[in-house]
Amino acid sequence: MVKLDNNPWRTVSLNAEGTRLRLVDQTKLPNELVWLELSELEEVWQAIKTLAVRGAPAIGVAAAGGLALAARRIIAPDFPEFYQKFCRCKAYLASARPTAVNLGWALERLKRKALENKQRSLVEIKAALIDEANAIRDEDIRCCRAIGEAGLPLLANCRAVLTHCNAGQLAAVQYGTALAPVYLAREQGLNLHVYVDETRPLLQGARLTAWELAQAGVEATLICDNMAAAVMAQDKVDAVIVGADRIAANGDVANKIGTSGVAILARHFRKPFYVAAPGSTIDLDCRSGKNIIIEEREPEEVCELWYSRRMAPAGIGVYNPAFDVTPAELVSGIITERGVIYPPYSENLAALFKPVGGPKKFFM
Ligand code: MRU
Repeated sequence: MVKLDNNPWRTVSLNAEGTRLRLVDQTKLPNELVWLELSELEEVWQAIKTLAVRGAPAIGVAAAGGLALAARRIIAPDFPEFYQKFCRCKAYLASARPTAVNLGWALERLKRKALENKQRSLVEIKAALIDEANAIRDEDIRCCRAIGEAGLPLLANCRAVLTHCNAGQLAAVQYGTALAPVYLAREQGLNLHVYVDETRPLLQGARLTAWELAQAGVEATLICDNMAAAVMAQDKVDAVIVGADRIAANGDVANKIGTSGVAILARHFRKPFYVAAPGSTIDLDCRSGKNIIIEEREPEEVCELWYSRRMAPAGIGVYNPAFDVTPAELVSGIITERGVIYPPYSENLAALFKPVGGPKKFFM
């Protein structure tokens, strides 16, 4: 597990006073480990938009912290005016990125907390919102640990796994999702080698997954995205494990662009393809992958970002979807904090995660 200077466990967290959101600036890795201290709503929006904080669970924790901080600063004579201003802040944060459901999920939790407490004083409501943001962070840690425990038996006989993007500690608060079983294996003294797709165009695999695995002492090998087929054909990996940004009710999985290609390869080469995600990433209100909004990002990420000189002709059209949808039929199992879910997903996701009367809750 990565030890992050004086903040060993928490890649995203409110400070003890509940006045600042502290997070690792993921855009600076792997060259610099820089912590951001944010207090303004606009700063939190910007951090999510620019991927300073990224990865579905981490975005949810950051958004909850950001909204709780914003709520603290609201000046209002009564609850209705407070709530109106609160909802404006909430809508603004929700607009930062469209695909990861954890963003909206965490903001909704804070909204429910405000409404549940509306008979109390505004001072008490604001304190309850800070507590809720901290609870979301703590639940994330417990969920990811439980995902690791549920996933480890599936990988017990694997020599090596392949992963795409970053679904490790940096993408959550601790452990991560796809990497949680890897970290638990490490805790138990097992050697599970990880092949890391570099993950064009933003290189979350090369910059973040490779970095955090190295920090944790996990053996890893970096490959370009177009090498995954060769790695599977040469039988260098026994399974694939990835995270998710949104899992639809039918088991379709939105995750970082390129994930669906890896899933197709895994099917061809008869490797199990696992998705690891907390309940907060499962969107039972979303019927299938067709209903998931896929974020499109700037052409510069493809043509310029990592190059000392522009590497494609000026004016070339660029299509830069940040995510794709892996059809449920290619997913061997979904590893959650409540156990591993197998097909048929339409039935089994709902059986494990459908809220019993009332709003969604994913408390552990
Ligand atoms: O654009 P990003 O870097 O936020 O995309 C992240 C991913 O696609 C991750 O794989 C996903 O959020 C799972 S994180 C535990």
